[in-house]
Amino acid sequence: MNEKGKATLSYGEGKTVDLPVYGGSHGPDVIDIRKLYGQTGMFTYDPGFLSTASCNSAITFIDGDKGELLYRGYPIEQLAKNCDFLETCYLLLKGELPDAEQKKQFVGQVTNHTMVHEQMQFFLRGFRRDAHPMAVMTGLVGAMSAFYPDSINLNDAKQREISAIRLIAKLPTLTAMAYKYTVGQPIVYPRNDLGYTANFMRMMFAVPAEEYKINDVLVRALDRIFILHADHEQNASTSTVRLCASSGTNPFAAIAAGVACLWGPAHGGANEAALNMLYDIQRDGGEAKIGEFITKVKDKNSNVRLMGFGHRVYKNHDPRAKLMRETCHEVLNELGLHDDPLFKLAMSLEKIALEDDYFVSRKLYPNVDFYSGIVQKAIGIPVPLFTAIFALARTVGWIAQLNEMIADPEYKIGRPRQLYAGAQRRDVKK
Ligand code: CMC
Repeated sequence: MNEKGKATLSYGEGKTVDLPVYGGSHGPDVIDIRKLYGQTGMFTYDPGFLSTASCNSAITFIDGDKGELLYRGYPIEQLAKNCDFLETCYLLLKGELPDAEQKKQFVGQVTNHTMVHEQMQFFLRGFRRDAHPMAVMTGLVGAMSAFYPDSINLNDAKQREISAIRLIAKLPTLTAMAYKYTVGQPIVYPRNDLGYTANFMRMMFAVPAEEYKINDVLVRALDRIFILHADHEQNASTSTVRLCASSGTNPFAAIAAGVACLWGPAHGGANEAALNMLYDIQRDGGEAKIGEFITKVKDKNSNVRLMGFGHRVYKNHDPRAKLMRETCHEVLNELGLHDDPLFKLAMSLEKIALEDDYFVSRKLYPNVDFYSGIVQKAIGIPVPLFTAIFALARTVGWIAQLNEMIADPEYKIGRPRQLYAGAQRRDVKK
């Protein structure tokens, strides 16, 4: 952070205050308002954090106007094409891409932690079989603090490192366990001779009665979903993890808070919501009803949104969506699904929305979740599990952000203020 000058704020009757202005390496400068309350007795008001930088971070940068996403300075397009998910994890956690030896060590570390405490199966069995996977995942991730009590001290760097490896390694196992439990199939244990994503797919789809064949196109597609979802700077779930951890709670609890936040349909739940929307249109009559559906979306009184379209930050295009669209066509080709009615419907919806003035004028482009939902559905991942897959991928980003916060000498417990607009002080009448 370098100080670039001052911004002067006039307030009250002829009073002014000078506030420092800092510049980062990319993106807008910031006005430092930390002392504003002390100097003026006023708070700033910014519900939804539309103009507030909540921290100083060196992990991920988004230029929403350009449609650019960088992890540690590397464009997402280059990472998605040249790296795998575990290399991306290393980059997010440590700041640099690993060399061959560093990668070997990191992969070895993660691989050694893929199994989960056997007792976690019994904990899992306490859930209803029809429980939403995100309810189960919030519970399982939070429960890791009970199963791994030797790595819950947030202020101990070694314990933080072990909890990070455990989370990255065990999330695929837990997600697959949650799925197998729902469908009533035996839990498949991890196999450490497989890569991270291939191992996850085997735990999801293998059954003891048959040999499971790894399909490299599908593994690469899922690995790309993981890379594209690994971090996204200070979004709602990441800010939740930071805020939660700022109280000094343990890393598993903070990541569980992130999982809970991600569940919402305006955030990680969008890919599930997008697929459900496609099912609804299909039930109502399919392609012939798209026009009617779009009319509803445009009607301000309908509260219907085109799920998988629009983004708070990307106002030009979502760079992840372009990559995911490419993967989407690869997967549909590999599986011979281009003529499947649901996927045809998705492609027609995409075409109509991209040409419709309502969406064009509001800069509402398909976001990553529109395509990632289609890819996951084609791979065979059930719709309610989509957000759990997102959580699996985002866990590394949450951890990197949490570690960065703890290492920041300026870190304090997060405590927003408010503009109180309720009843004035009054007395209870007896
Ligand atoms: N369908 C129809 N209209 C929309 C949509 C949509 N998906 N998104 C925004 N609009 C309209 C909105 O009605 C408003 O119109 P007007 O100016 O006439 O009032 C205008 O576009 C601006 O909308 P906004 O709500 O102010 O935009 P926002 O930046 O607050 O919302 C959003 C961003 C992602 C919540 C929203 O676009 C949305 O609800 N999209 C659908 C859900 C979705 O796909 N979310 C996933 C985001 S990507 C995953 C991630 O990175 O977490």
